[in-house]
Amino acid sequence: MSVGIDEISFYTSNYFLDLKTLAEVQGTDPEKYYTGIGQEKMGMAAPDEDIVTMAASAALPLIERAGPDAVSTLMFATETGIDQSKAAGIYVHRLLGLNANCRVVELKQACYSATAALQMACALVARKPDTKVLVIASDIARYDLDTPGEATQGCGAVAMLVSANPRLVSIDPEVGNYTEDVMDFWRPNYRSTALVDGKYSTKIYLKALKKAWDNFSTVSGYGFGDFSRFCYHLPFSRMAQKAHQQLVRHTKAGLSADEQEAQISDTLLYNRIIGNSYTASMYIGLTSLLENTIEDLSGQRIGFFSYGSGCVGEFFSGTVVAGYREALHLQRHRDLLAARREISHDEYLQLYRHPVPTDGGEHRFEEGTTGHFRLAGISHHKREYIPR
Ligand code: HMG
Repeated sequence: MSVGIDEISFYTSNYFLDLKTLAEVQGTDPEKYYTGIGQEKMGMAAPDEDIVTMAASAALPLIERAGPDAVSTLMFATETGIDQSKAAGIYVHRLLGLNANCRVVELKQACYSATAALQMACALVARKPDTKVLVIASDIARYDLDTPGEATQGCGAVAMLVSANPRLVSIDPEVGNYTEDVMDFWRPNYRSTALVDGKYSTKIYLKALKKAWDNFSTVSGYGFGDFSRFCYHLPFSRMAQKAHQQLVRHTKAGLSADEQEAQISDTLLYNRIIGNSYTASMYIGLTSLLENTIEDLSGQRIGFFSYGSGCVGEFFSGTVVAGYREALHLQRHRDLLAARREISHDEYLQLYRHPVPTDGGEHRFEEGTTGHFRLAGISHHKREYIPR
């Protein structure tokens, strides 16, 4: 019996800022963003959307197909949590009408926690193959204005149904891990934006890749040549290109630049126009690969490198299942991305500065999201989520 990702669906906000607009205001060459970091656009959340509404919108198509009673556990991975105590997934559980016997939990370790959730979901399904686990990763990436991180913001959520005999990707049990206590990127509880040592974070990412790969290749016995494509954590698309170049060098794979690019280019397409979605970003990259690769990937093995600052890196692998195209949500994702509206720099600043009230009063939020759910307001410190 194989275990893995049976279905995958993502959501991102209907607003985006083109990075050439940001570059113009900053007096920077737009090519620094388009080419230097490999990003064109970044998603900006509407005033009435957050990690909960994005997560529920991402998961709704899966639940519509599988039914609300199909899921025994909901794992919610995020690093932009809205509550120190209550799991964001409990709101999603209600919005999706899931069974009261479904357990819900939230997981955190920067951008890595969705991978921890996926691995734990696979273990739960292996123990009880007639169950399905819903893994959701949802984040809003925010840095201070006028910092190098600003151009690498974004937002998005991805939902994956994990089952026995999956229709998309079966996940191999072997993993390679690397953990080290470093301060490359972090967000203390009293801050709404992340702190980051940008250049250092890219170095640590590459170090964790090498170490996780070494561990993975030892425990699994796989070599670089066993993989046809690679999905990397995507803080910005150029990071994956640098990572892949390094892995090629490290494993002495001896590929040309074009051959290297062909192994990752289809994973980058959605991230380039959504931006960093932290926990969700590698899995939006996987969706991009499955939905945009012309060649039939059936039977091909994919390498995954998941990275979360702080830091944990994990290298693992999976095999694409024959007939996977039947289970994709390709047209819905294309429609979602095509229907987005470009915003001006002034609108971007308004969305960026939209206050989250903390006074316990009665606050209503203006309608902005085109997703299936909205955050109607906050009253007496309680968030009110409704279908739109
Ligand atoms: P920066 O200082 O603005 O950029 O910060 P730069 O000056 O280094 O330029 C970036 C690249 O653009 C360089 O290329 C330049 O040469 C090039 P490189 O040397 O890297 O190959 N460039 C140009 N190219 C073409 N035309 C031009 C031009 N000008 C310059 N005119 C930095 C970049 C990534 C540091 C910044 O954006 C940042 O701090 N981002 C946030 C941190 C981050 O994303 N780190 C990634 C690793 S950590 C991670 O992935 C975890 C994370 O997702 C969080 C989590 O786990 O929770 C962040």
